[in-house]
Amino acid sequence: THVVTEACIGCKYTDCVEVCPVDCFHAGPNFIVIDPDECIDCALCVPECPVEAIYETSEVPEPMRPYIELNARYSKLWPVINARTEPLPDAERWAQVKNKLSELQT
Ligand code: F3S
Repeated sequence: THVVTEACIGCKYTDCVEVCPVDCFHAGPNFIVIDPDECIDCALCVPECPVEAIYETSEVPEPMRPYIELNARYSKLWPVINARTEPLPDAERWAQVKNKLSELQT
């Protein structure tokens, strides 16, 4: 499966959701996750993300391994999103910020 990682927080560009053939993306207030039970590993979303937030599970960089569990957990709680929406208002600023897990809104 694929997972969304930290770079998405505060940005939510949503280019990823438009190409997903199985509607496996779920949206929270300032982050998006992939349902590991629905993702078919087509990888179409990976190049769509302007901040390169999406990885195949086995390729998630070590500091971002906690996001694997976060995708599994919040995909069961947040609603499906299958159409592009406007990025968050401060997306360009958040795209430059590192270590923003504490900013995750659930
Ligand atoms: Fe997030 Fe990138 Fe999608 S910022 S909403 S993973 S296009």
